[in-house]
Amino acid sequence: MELGLHQLAAGNASGRNGLSMSDSKVTPLLNKVNKDTFFETGSNPVGDFRFNAGVADVFDDMVSRSVPFYEEMQRMVCELAGDFATPNSNLYDIGCSTATTMLAMNDAVDPSVKFIGIDNSADMLAKAEEKVKAMGVTRAMEFVNADLHQGFFVDNASVITMLLTLQFVRPLYRDRITKMFYNGLNENGALILIEKLTSEDTIFNRLFINHYYDFKRRNGYSETEIAKKREALENVLIPYRLEENVELLKEAGFRKVEPFFRWYNFCGIIAVK
Ligand SMILES: C[S@@+](CC[C@H](N)C(=O)[O-])C[C@H]1O[C@@H](n2cnc3c(N)ncnc32)[C@H](O)[C@@H]1O
Repeated sequence: MELGLHQLAAGNASGRNGLSMSDSKVTPLLNKVNKDTFFETGSNPVGDFRFNAGVADVFDDMVSRSVPFYEEMQRMVCELAGDFATPNSNLYDIGCSTATTMLAMNDAVDPSVKFIGIDNSADMLAKAEEKVKAMGVTRAMEFVNADLHQGFFVDNASVITMLLTLQFVRPLYRDRITKMFYNGLNENGALILIEKLTSEDTIFNRLFINHYYDFKRRNGYSETEIAKKREALENVLIPYRLEENVELLKEAGFRKVEPFFRWYNFCGIIAVK
């Protein structure tokens, strides 16, 4: 089967239920009432960054002010998920946080597909369940508290989305996890990743990071907040180069690997089994 052709034939390019995918459906899914001031005051000394209750509380505001084109990336992920999801299969969102991606994909994916959100932060999962309940979603949705470092399995998956999460997995484990994803995906299934990147070239690396911090300043973060978050993430968020990510996916067995988004040190990659 040619990739995506059956979906195109079914008219999925314009979204399920006749909904246009051009409008941002993500904005209403984000709780921006709770403003991210996590690193603003002295009350949060810098230690390793944790997805704890304090972070979960302000996460939607934090992620949308800290990740360039966050809503556009979500939209692209929804479109691609809609292209590859097949009836009666499972769709896994790994590192689902507050379920923004799962809710955003709801209209784009066949209703018979079960959504399974994986995260090891009970605080994030509590927020996710709250949001799903508030939206009155009827699709089968399950949340599983699992640590990617402990190992878990995906099964009958047509799509796995993993946004801004592989970067938090210790490098030693990335190989095993991407292989497990490959094994749990059905034939022609897709893994859709969003990752922060580093570059081998030190000049580009520095320039991209400078422009990224400018983006955060434009979104209202102070120098102190930017510096504290950088320090907190230092040992926790370990970005790979684009080529390292592509290599990782190819080694796991994926036959097609293609970047679909790039903004300085952020990228989206789709890999197809
Ligand atoms: C940056 S957030 C992901 C953002 C989310 N995917 C989105 O699109 O808004 C990373 C998430 O991965 C989860 N996470 C980090 N390390 C993990 C691990 N070892 N196992 C499971 N979940 C993990 C965190 O709790 C957090 O919710």
